[in-house]
Amino acid sequence: GSPKYQLLRQPGLRPSRHLPDTLIIGVKKSGTRALLEFIRLHPDVRAAGSEVHFFDRHYQRGLRWYRHHMPYTIEGQITMEKTPSYFVTKEVPQRVYHMNTATKLLIVVRDPVTRAISDYTQAASKKADMKRFEQLAFVNGSYSVVDTNWGPVKIGVYSRYLERWLLYFPLSQLLFISGERLIMDPAYEIGRVQDFLGLKRVVTEKHFYFNATKGFPCLFKSEARSTPHCLGKTKGRNHPHIDPSAIERLREFYRPFNNKFYQLTGINFAWA
Ligand code: A3P
Repeated sequence: GSPKYQLLRQPGLRPSRHLPDTLIIGVKKSGTRALLEFIRLHPDVRAAGSEVHFFDRHYQRGLRWYRHHMPYTIEGQITMEKTPSYFVTKEVPQRVYHMNTATKLLIVVRDPVTRAISDYTQAASKKADMKRFEQLAFVNGSYSVVDTNWGPVKIGVYSRYLERWLLYFPLSQLLFISGERLIMDPAYEIGRVQDFLGLKRVVTEKHFYFNATKGFPCLFKSEARSTPHCLGKTKGRNHPHIDPSAIERLREFYRPFNNKFYQLTGINFAWA
């Protein structure tokens, strides 16, 4: 054949699908889409566009099914996937370990109180006549007993889920990204991610601009689009007003779990 096709016959140059080397495992509503869109600007990163949900929903379909949901890569490129429910699903750490003990795990975390409100806001956007946040977050009307069974509250107890991951993976294989900092200084957090993945620092401040109307960092260009654009309108929603005393009670609830999380990660995220 032509020289081009001879080149493609060489292993490593011929694109093929591979199981992921790196997973963005969570946490839901902390900025996981922003992280994926930012890191996939790197030419050595290829990612599945939508959430595959292999380890939580489709595990019985097997690794061959999973691999077919991965993008084509050539040698030297990292295969990535993000499904935020992995972080909180009990069976997932063991299953990821079973696929590849060397899997690198990226975890975006955000103040669990604002994360809960964000989670609620998303649910409310899909359902008419949703109860108020305050009615759902507490078991009575007095903001005293927090409803720890309500998803938006429960998911914010990060230490509880992290403990299960640490049964299978050393801390050195986990990278924690501050959701707050990913908004304030995306280039800084993406710099850390590139270092962690052993990549050259290709994605830098030059890729980002702050869109004052949206109130979030946006991209000058990406693989998909060559013109400036922000994440979709489902990212960066306006949150409803929440009674400050409800917020205060939730902060108090999370404090010991946050401290435990700082202790486990060795990072003080300084959530109030
Ligand atoms: P809000 O919509 O509540 O503001 P996820 O992608 O994990 O669902 O997280 C969504 C959150 O990502 C948004 O929550 C928003 O705060 C945050 N985010 C971080 N960087 C962003 C960006 N550049 N554009 C829009 N949202 C961003």
